[in-house]
Amino acid sequence: MRLDKLLANMGFGTRKTVKNVLKAKEVTVNGLVEKDGKTHVNPETDKIEVSGEVIQYQEFMYFMLHKPQGVVSATTDHVHKTVIDLLDPQDQVMDPFPVGRLDKDTEGLLILTNDGTLAHNLLSPKKHVDKCYEAIIEGVVNEQDIRAFERGITLDDGFNCQSAKLELLSVDFEKERSVIQVTIHEGKFHQVKRMFEAVDKSVIYLKRLSMGNLQLDETLELGEYRQLTKEELASLRDN
Ligand code: URA
Repeated sequence: MRLDKLLANMGFGTRKTVKNVLKAKEVTVNGLVEKDGKTHVNPETDKIEVSGEVIQYQEFMYFMLHKPQGVVSATTDHVHKTVIDLLDPQDQVMDPFPVGRLDKDTEGLLILTNDGTLAHNLLSPKKHVDKCYEAIIEGVVNEQDIRAFERGITLDDGFNCQSAKLELLSVDFEKERSVIQVTIHEGKFHQVKRMFEAVDKSVIYLKRLSMGNLQLDETLELGEYRQLTKEELASLRDN
C-alpha cells in the first residue's frame, strides 16, 4: 500500500497533511528516510518508523462501545450525534462502522469495526447469532408471555420469530413494571420492542448485554469504548 495512505490510516493526518511529516524527514522505511508518499510499502514486512517510533500497522480495528442513549447507530447523520462521533479522531480514520443497529434510545454493547467480513458473519440471518438484552417492561410479565416467546412471537408484519428465551428477573406489582432478560436470534428492526407489543406490553428501557460470545464489559461507562482483546475477537469469530 502507499506510504501516505498507511500513515493517514494510522492517525498521522490526512493524506494531504502527512506530506508535511514526510517532508520533515520524520519517516523511515527499513532505516532509510522516505519523503515520497506515493512509495509503496508492505506493512507486514517493511519496518516503518515515524520520529524513531516503529509503526505497528493494523488493517482492521475492533472496538466494543457501551452505547449510551441519544446517539444513532450510523456512520453519519445530519441531525443526531452518531456512535462514530464518540470515538477519538484517530480511531475514526479507518472508517469504522457499527455492526448492526441499536435504537437511539437503546443502550449497551455495540461492536464497531471496519472488518466487513466479520460484520457480515455476525449479522447474517443464517448464522442466528444470539443477542441478549435486559429490559424494563411496562406491564406484569407472566408465564404465558414466557411460553409465547418460547413458541415464537409473530411480529406486526407477520414475521415469525424463532423461539426466544424470556427470563423474568423481578416484578413491581404496584408500578406494574417488570425487569426481564431476553435472548433473540434474529435482528429485525425494533425486534424486542415489537415482540413485547405482540403480548400487549411495552419496553421502557432496553440494554444489550451480549452478542454471540461477546459480553458487554460493564466497567465501561456509557459512551466509553475499548479495543476487543485477542480472546474476545477469537470467540466472536467462532460464532
Ligand atoms: N430490539 C429493539 O427493539 N431495539 C433495539 O435497539 C435492539 C433490539
